[in-house]
Amino acid sequence: MTDISAMLTQTATHTLECSRLTKHYGAQQVLRGVDLHVRSGQIVALLGPSGCGKTTTLRLIAGFEEPDRGRIAIDGRVVTDAKTAIAVEQRQIGMVFQEYALFPHLSVADNIGFGLPGNARDKAGRIGELLALVGLAGLEKRMPHELSGGQQQRVALARALAPQPRVLLLDEPFSNLDTALRAQVRSEVKAILRQAGITCVLVTHDQEEALSLADEIAVMFDGQIAQMADAQTLYHKPATRQVAAFVGEANFLPAMAHGDQAACALGTVGLHEAATGSVDLMIRPEQLQLLPEVNGVRAVVRWQEFYGHDQRIGIALESGEALTVRMDGDAHFVVGETSGVKLRSAAHAFAGATVQTT
Ligand SMILES: Nc1ncnc2c1ncn2[C@@H]1O[C@H](COP(=O)(O)OP(=O)(O)O)[C@@H](O)[C@H]1O
Ligand SMILES: [Mg+2]
Repeated sequence: MTDISAMLTQTATHTLECSRLTKHYGAQQVLRGVDLHVRSGQIVALLGPSGCGKTTTLRLIAGFEEPDRGRIAIDGRVVTDAKTAIAVEQRQIGMVFQEYALFPHLSVADNIGFGLPGNARDKAGRIGELLALVGLAGLEKRMPHELSGGQQQRVALARALAPQPRVLLLDEPFSNLDTALRAQVRSEVKAILRQAGITCVLVTHDQEEALSLADEIAVMFDGQIAQMADAQTLYHKPATRQVAAFVGEANFLPAMAHGDQAACALGTVGLHEAATGSVDLMIRPEQLQLLPEVNGVRAVVRWQEFYGHDQRIGIALESGEALTVRMDGDAHFVVGETSGVKLRSAAHAFAGATVQTT
């Protein structure tokens, strides 16, 4: 394995910078100043709801579309700006799409070798390296329809990596796979991308996919990046309420902050960062705990969803607020009964209490 990885690992460094990209389709403004900087070898996920402009951003990077304004540079050299539009095939960008787009009449080896220059012997060597990288050695003569969905996706990845692109773009690459397969293919692909050391932008609307795959996640709403950060920061310190609600599940509770504490319907609670005055607390469901003994703050259990490893429980505080709690599957609470509730860790506060319900 080591000699293969030495052959395939990218030795050059490749960076991607998108600055202030704007784009209209007719009267509709689809991108509103997108900034996206990807370091060499970094996997960045572009995460956002359907229609927010993710695919458009990738198409601009690839060169299929031109922005109204803005600049795209690869390795510090401009490929797109007001005066420049480098052709798609000269950008050295690899792409993998949701629908694999393998050539159905070509074998695995011929699919991977399709865009490769050189004589048959050079090609065969490179195809062999890639088959090993994506774990499909021995299947080179198979036709696409003789492969599973996950295997097809790995062939598509091998084909995109074959010409040694500077940047790899993946658009919803796992959405055609059924749920059971998706997690497995996702970790396989992550290992392959890591081994290839390639600079990568992955588009997805699936937050779990983004959190588990990427070094950093750019959350996009309505043609703008709301926040770009690593998974932990995004989850625990979201920049806006909208990010908080999109990345994981969030409860919001109005509170009055005094330094590193705040008074709210759950009593006096700790804050991640000091704040003053009227705030909204963001509380993740797993930060809340129901207690059998009812001696502090009380809540009535309204509903319960059991998942086995854990469960979601809807509660109503005595003060009227509805909250969602996530607890171990073995905790036992009955709908309609009253229990105690407490916050187990510090809350994140948003200034200006305008509670946005989700
Ligand atoms: N070629 C096009 N012509 C007109 N409108 C388009 C075109 N491509 C995308 N759009 C519109 O731009 C918006 C963003 O699309 P897209 O970038 O595909 O979103 P996403 O990939 O985040 O789901 C959508 O409202 C979509 O309908
Ligand atoms: Mg899309």
